[in-house]
Amino acid sequence: MCGITACVGRDDVVDVLLGGLENLEYRGYDSSGIATQSAESVAVVKREGGIEELATSLDAIEPTGHVGIGHTRWSTHGAPTDANAHPHTDCEDRVAVVHNGIIENYADLREELAAAGHEFTSETDTEVVPHLVADALDSGLSPDAAFRAAIDRLEGSYALAMVVAGEDAIYASRDGSPLVVGVGDDRQYLASDVPSFLEHTSEVVYLEDDDVVRVTADGHDVTKIDGTPVDRPVESVDWQPEDAERNGFDHYMLKEIHEQPAALERAINGRVTADGNVKLEEFPRGSFEDVEDVMFVACGTSYHASMYARQMLAARGVSAQVYSAGEFATTPSPVDENTLVVAVTQSGETADTLASVRLAQERGARTLAVTNVVGSTAARKCDDALFIRAGPEIGVAATKTFSSQVAVLTLLAERLVEDVTGSPSEERADVLRALERLPSDVQQILDQSSVESLAARNRDRDGHFFIGRGVAYPVALEGALKFKEITYEHAEGFAAGELKHGPLALVTPDTPVFAVFSGDHDEKTLNNVEEVQTRGAPVVGIGSEESTAVAETVDEFIPIPDTHPLVSGVLANVQLQLVAYHVADLLGRSIDKPRNLAKSVTVE
Ligand code: G6P
Repeated sequence: MCGITACVGRDDVVDVLLGGLENLEYRGYDSSGIATQSAESVAVVKREGGIEELATSLDAIEPTGHVGIGHTRWSTHGAPTDANAHPHTDCEDRVAVVHNGIIENYADLREELAAAGHEFTSETDTEVVPHLVADALDSGLSPDAAFRAAIDRLEGSYALAMVVAGEDAIYASRDGSPLVVGVGDDRQYLASDVPSFLEHTSEVVYLEDDDVVRVTADGHDVTKIDGTPVDRPVESVDWQPEDAERNGFDHYMLKEIHEQPAALERAINGRVTADGNVKLEEFPRGSFEDVEDVMFVACGTSYHASMYARQMLAARGVSAQVYSAGEFATTPSPVDENTLVVAVTQSGETADTLASVRLAQERGARTLAVTNVVGSTAARKCDDALFIRAGPEIGVAATKTFSSQVAVLTLLAERLVEDVTGSPSEERADVLRALERLPSDVQQILDQSSVESLAARNRDRDGHFFIGRGVAYPVALEGALKFKEITYEHAEGFAAGELKHGPLALVTPDTPVFAVFSGDHDEKTLNNVEEVQTRGAPVVGIGSEESTAVAETVDEFIPIPDTHPLVSGVLANVQLQLVAYHVADLLGRSIDKPRNLAKSVTVE
């Protein structure tokens, strides 16, 4: 949801800014731009379209500068046009600003500034900021004081970065949207997300809400808005630059699908003991003995991983619910100090999920982030954090992080069951053994999957339905989400038993039904399969290679290695990822950057 990048050095930084934007394109890709400063003015180049459009303009215009900011946009206020692209400037091109978030009081501010003679050239909320800064500069304030005066007037959420003519520095601040400083030798960086500058440095400083940072070629100073100095530690991130590259794959999504065995190894590594116990360093036995209720809050794919975890808890006697974070933030369920609210979020920055965490904390619940990003807001705001260690995920459609989330949530579920009920689950040893086999089982699918031809037969249909029960239900939902996100074809997921209560009316010979079998209650799902077959729909079954009943009933069968039912959903999901990928590829879709979507949604 919009990516900010910035760099200050002693030589030209335009190429660094462009590279920083390319690395952040997953955060938004409908327009982009950069601004550099000189003694007299700021120079802005910005274009509607992807970063390649901007690169073409930069080649033609050849701007230079050793201090600059850049932005890749996912529109909220104003259509994706050249005018609405960031950076935005004041009337005299003294100030340029990039912004991620929403300024809620922008209409009032705009009216006030327009009345004072400021002319606006875009429909964005952001444009009020450079005009506010210019007003403050005109009243005699220094750039530093003018920046603080401007942000003091803002309501809403923001990460902002600014350059001012004649100032060899970047000013930035955040409230509700992420910003991280990259510490280099001769150059310093600032971005929404570490992959932006990971090729230059892995030493980072995560900013907190209401921090103001001034970054120069020599270093950075962090203060609060009132000027009080604060000390934010320099941390090392253990992601490698090549983790954020395509490494010969046609798409990041395909690369990340293929990274699942390694990501799962990291998720599980050191967390299962030789004698079959869970070992979560952060959470020794008894860590959760006061917990009476578990509530998951999450969005998108993370919501489906949470549903999966809820099944594992509820089936073993732990009261657990899962909420779409946007809904929980609107109508929170009652919580108390015995409620564990688990925020499952790959990025750790999803606004709805963070809003739910805030509400839960205000109401006294204990909070835990299950996330991929160590310095993320969720990791820092929640009482505790458990990391899924998947490595950077660049494709907008989440793949490896779903598998890693489920693996880590499986371990967490085992710890919770033991702490909350007083005894380990009866199947713990079997589940953990299956979990340890998961990386090689996924590898087997990647080596043997032949869904490409099936994809060719299913690329041009009226609709695609996905059904499952138990842990196969969230997998069906995730299969449908992946399919619609990247193919733009109609796809819906349903609980297998729910199909006959309405959706069956949509089933025809031109609506293939993908039925996911976990190995639990398969006979019931087979009844549902027959219901749709009776209406002429072709059924593709995904289930254990040993399940002859399933293989014989469905019209096409996609086998997965036989494993514990609670773990099998991850394997079925890998096959569905591949189906969605190949259909999207055949249709020529923009797989890594699907239309209208962004990887990290930092507005509610
Ligand atoms: C966006 C992404 C999804 C993701 C969801 C939640 O909608 O496009 O792929 O699942 O946000 O993101 P999170 O980072 O909180 O897991």
